[in-house]
Amino acid sequence: RPNRPQNQSGPSRGQNPHSSLSLSTRRELYERDFPVYKQPVEVGCFSLDSERRFFNDGRQMRYYVEPDRSPNFDLRDGYKDRFIKRDDSVKEKLDHMLRWILANRSKLSARGTTASSCDLDIDFVTWRGHLTKLLTAPYETREGWQLAVTRFRGTLYISEVETEAARRDQENRTERHEEMMYWGYKFEQYTCADTVHGRPDPGGVLNTNEAFCTVVQTRLADHRLLFSGEVDCRDKDPNAPAAPACYIELKTSAEICTPKQRSNFHRFKLLKWWAQSFLPGVPRVVAGFRDEEGVVVALETFPISKISHLIKNEPNCWKPTVCMNFCSDFLSFVKHIATEDNPSVVYLLSWEPRRDVTFSVHRDSPYCFLPHWFVEEMTS
Ligand code: A3P
Ligand code: MG
Ligand code: MG
Repeated sequence: RPNRPQNQSGPSRGQNPHSSLSLSTRRELYERDFPVYKQPVEVGCFSLDSERRFFNDGRQMRYYVEPDRSPNFDLRDGYKDRFIKRDDSVKEKLDHMLRWILANRSKLSARGTTASSCDLDIDFVTWRGHLTKLLTAPYETREGWQLAVTRFRGTLYISEVETEAARRDQENRTERHEEMMYWGYKFEQYTCADTVHGRPDPGGVLNTNEAFCTVVQTRLADHRLLFSGEVDCRDKDPNAPAAPACYIELKTSAEICTPKQRSNFHRFKLLKWWAQSFLPGVPRVVAGFRDEEGVVVALETFPISKISHLIKNEPNCWKPTVCMNFCSDFLSFVKHIATEDNPSVVYLLSWEPRRDVTFSVHRDSPYCFLPHWFVEEMTS
């Protein structure tokens, strides 16, 4: 089968020297030595308030409060009457990160001097969540993705585009599923305080517009990365290590009762948890295991550095090196194909499970995602 990109369109049709290129996600191709992944450094943070307004500070940071007895958290509480849900039909793309970049340009050291002094010293700008999807792609069998890429002043910006299938799934969610999506946030409310000496307030209103995001810089092989990810909370001990090492990811999961459930937890859930936290250097996940009625019956801490050992006895299991090597090769592929430096050109990379990654090129199209306010301020 020839590796041809689908939906090739726009002025570069037939002229693109890479138009016959595609990238495989087959695991065997990525089983080599673990690539260089530099310890992520936090270069800043930002907050989104109850109305999703941006603040260039950590005002939405929360503090983890270890429950003092065995938990009995009812995750269904408040769903009907104390829940304000973020409007996920509003597509924010990279906007919050771009706002952060404009507010912190001086921190992002410029390469060399005069001529390029307003260019960022960075190859890729994206969300952590987009990178998580890349890390897990060699093992993903259900959900594909589309990533829009624009090269602007030497930096490649990557922003996800919702697939048709994802939009359909979102529209057809059952009431049970809708409610279960609330449970993870409710667990956060039972275990986090707003201030370092405060207590959690599970009786309060839960508003999923609010977020605290870290911005980290790191390098994967020869790719210099700047990305942001939401952080659930931090260790409240004043002697805890500096960010991101003091951060804690909170997760909920169905309680494990059978060997089959344990195996599935290792093979599927721990992959997602590992990828999400390894990327920004968040060292641990605190998991709340809940029953069918949404009551948390046990807590367990998973150090990210121990997850790869935990899964070693699992036959046919995922491997961190495959995840990281695929991501690195994907970024090389993007550098290779996204050659035109132009804020109104989008290279759309598309992937479906059991297929190769393909791409198409779009000029002045609805896929454009760098806003004028960003392009203008970066150009002036
Ligand atoms: P759980 O992952 O504990 O179920 P995060 O864990 O990334 O901080 O996200 C917090 C919660 O948001 C999740 O908690 C889940 O309830 C909800 N959530 C996050 N991503 C989701 C997705 N893709 N689909 C549905 N719910 C999601
Ligand atoms: Mg979170
Ligand atoms: Mg979480």
